[in-house]
Amino acid sequence: MIDDRQRIRIETRGGGRASSREAESLGLIVTELVINSLKHAFSDDTIGGLIAVVYEVCGTDWKLSVSDNGIGTSNATDRAKGGLGTGIVKALAKQLDAQVATLTGPQGTTVSVTHATFGTSAGAQPLSAVPVMADVA
Ligand SMILES: Nc1ncnc2c1ncn2[C@@H]1O[C@H](COP(=O)(O)OP(=O)(O)O)[C@@H](O)[C@H]1O
Ligand SMILES: [Mg+2]
Repeated sequence: MIDDRQRIRIETRGGGRASSREAESLGLIVTELVINSLKHAFSDDTIGGLIAVVYEVCGTDWKLSVSDNGIGTSNATDRAKGGLGTGIVKALAKQLDAQVATLTGPQGTTVSVTHATFGTSAGAQPLSAVPVMADVA
């Protein structure tokens, strides 16, 4: 968990349209995943903490991903069981007819929510593979 003195950068990239119903669910998913990164990914002495939110649209397909460069989750059982947040993200993704994929390790965590086919780029990518665009905070 970060404290008030720590500076974590949040970057956003991508764009494209979504219906208001989709946008509502996507907003809730982003909120949960960004809070997860703030809550779980960084330690008290983290320097250079980064969270990237990426939304890409291709025709009727889209992918939303939230990545951080934090400590990852080593406890696979905890992660698989998940808490309330994991359940909410899965339920919202189901409503959107999308798949949730998580990639986690010592370099950080990426959670992707993908609707339909994105070819070989589907699924979670590490933060190092995510191009960066705007500095939000
Ligand atoms: N970005 C992240 N970095 C490291 N660990 C994470 C991250 N997101 C989730 N986790 C781990 O997965 C667990 C389940 O997350 P979640 O279902 O959102 O529950 P909660 O946030 O209420 O603990 C967390 O308790 C934490 O151990
Ligand atoms: Mg959570």
